[in-house]
Amino acid sequence: MKIILSLVATIVMASSLFLYQTKPLSDSIADGQEIYQDFCVQCHLPNGMGVENTFPPLAKSDYLDNRQSTIRALKYGLSGPIKVNGKTYNGQMTTQGLDEEEIADVLNYIYRQWGNTSEHVFTAKEIQNTQP
Ligand code: HEC
Repeated sequence: MKIILSLVATIVMASSLFLYQTKPLSDSIADGQEIYQDFCVQCHLPNGMGVENTFPPLAKSDYLDNRQSTIRALKYGLSGPIKVNGKTYNGQMTTQGLDEEEIADVLNYIYRQWGNTSEHVFTAKEIQNTQP
């Protein structure tokens, strides 16, 4: 009986792990929206336009074209001079303390907001595989 119970427990755990990894894109975007509201909106603003000379825009940002750099910014923080849409910013963004799945969610959200039209689907695995 014990063996069967632990077998059942293992299957339940394994399948929830499976579900976790294959979270549908629509759920990821919805979660990403909440994360944006909690962790990003105060600087990058509800319309993703940021604040001139201080907080760079996410709306139509050409910085997002480089997905690796964008993931790194969220995973490890970002400071020093960067160029976004031809303008230089020289500020600092600390890591927001998000885990890999949360970073994937918020990126799936911002890549599809404010006129951004990416079809790329970020996953926790991609975030995990991105090194400094
Ligand atoms: C306290 C203010 C602040 C918060 C909160 C913040 N950022 Fe930033 N963010 C910045 C600053 C400042 C930079 C530019 C850093 C530099 O100049 O090197 C930046 C840069 C970026 C960039 C790269 C440049 C661009 O505009 O495309 C992305 C992407 C980004 N932030 C996304 C996010 C996301 C997503 C969140 C929420 C999880 C977030 N930021 C939270 C201040 C903030």
